[in-house]
Amino acid sequence: MNILILGSGGREHALAWAVLQNPKCDRLIVAPGNAGIAGIADCADLDIMDPGAVVTFAEEEAIDFVIIGPEAPLAAGVADRLREAGLLCFGPSAAAAQLEASKSFTKAICDAAKAPTAAYGHFTDAAAARDYVTQQGAPIVIKADGLAAGKGVIIAETVQQAHDAIDDMFGGSFGAAGAEVVIEEFMTGEEASLFVLCDGTDILAIGSAQDHKRVGEGDTGPNTGGMGAYSPAPVLTPEIEALAMDQIVRPTMAEMAARGMPFQGVLYAGLMIENGQPRLVEYNVRFGDPECQVLMMRLGAQAMDLMHAAAEGRLADMQVSWADDHALTVVLAAKGYPDAYEKGSAIQGLDKCPEDSSNMVFHAGTARRDGAVVATGGRVLNVTARGATLTQAAANAYDMVDRIDWPEGFCRRDIGWRAL
Ligand code: AMP
Ligand code: GLY
Repeated sequence: MNILILGSGGREHALAWAVLQNPKCDRLIVAPGNAGIAGIADCADLDIMDPGAVVTFAEEEAIDFVIIGPEAPLAAGVADRLREAGLLCFGPSAAAAQLEASKSFTKAICDAAKAPTAAYGHFTDAAAARDYVTQQGAPIVIKADGLAAGKGVIIAETVQQAHDAIDDMFGGSFGAAGAEVVIEEFMTGEEASLFVLCDGTDILAIGSAQDHKRVGEGDTGPNTGGMGAYSPAPVLTPEIEALAMDQIVRPTMAEMAARGMPFQGVLYAGLMIENGQPRLVEYNVRFGDPECQVLMMRLGAQAMDLMHAAAEGRLADMQVSWADDHALTVVLAAKGYPDAYEKGSAIQGLDKCPEDSSNMVFHAGTARRDGAVVATGGRVLNVTARGATLTQAAANAYDMVDRIDWPEGFCRRDIGWRAL
């Protein structure tokens, strides 16, 4: 099969790495890709937000299967246009992608599906939102309704902070994403993510992960896109996973189908677990980044068969065969991230890192300039390793981190600490 993956981050490098291990893959193109991806696959310069351009490119290159990595092209309808053109594609329609693209949509689906989640209010004007906060008190969570690249969530410790966040959002600080605001009860507990493939009808859980969202050790400091992750998530026991599937994921998928927008792709359920009960924090309609890196390392070649089956509506025949192992990824980021950081610094020592079925440095934000790999983003590398135990996986990952010579970068030294 000729396969096209859309995206340019560590998630797409990991997807490409897994797909290439599958003998069914004859040719792989990643658009637009990055320096690490260019080492294993062809990269193409393509505007992945332009559905027509993606369709034309896929037809010209005789692509048999398209895998869409990030949420933005899904919300822009790229999967819809590919399917209309008769192309096989992994990823939900724009209508089904509302599960990530609109927080108020998701809350309404949860209400209809009776899925446990935080109590909430939904507002289109600041005065009503402020009154609601005054009534509810703090801590309380203020969310921009639309896609805000992971930045549209403010956890307000005081009513004043909440009022400021509301004024900020309605004042336009998140653009159109903040024209509507969801205000939620603050939930306590431990967070974990459950990944489920759906083909519109059948669903299959394919693994769990936990990530570290805060930039600082001990889970302190500002939120980021994720500074590291590990799989499986020990807090997601088989009992809690079964509750999450029965009470949250299955009813959501049934409600989506009943509304005429069946979900096909990967559903990432962010859960808050307390006293043995999971509640939904949020859905994403794509693999997490960097959670995908640890999932792909554990799934290997079968990841492609599973995604292909989801796209063809054959999930009922599939199962996942798990190695009884652990994977952990450490994010190397440019100093300054998640605030301002420099681009263009050179990274050395990558050739000293092993690359095999248990060790990979996935590239998230890199380019090749004059033969050298340089940093082009905030999160730059995902140093990923597998081990028989989580302790071993962490030791292997940090051993690779120590071989990389990049003075302008930093990482957290405590990825996995909650589980270790
Ligand atoms: P989201 O973008 O909705 O995943 O939110 C980002 C992060 O904010 C989550 O991973 C949680 O750590 C936190 N968060 C979001 N909603 C809540 C909530 N209702 N209660 C507590 N924490 C939350
Ligand atoms: N690592 C969090 C996310 O992908 O949304």
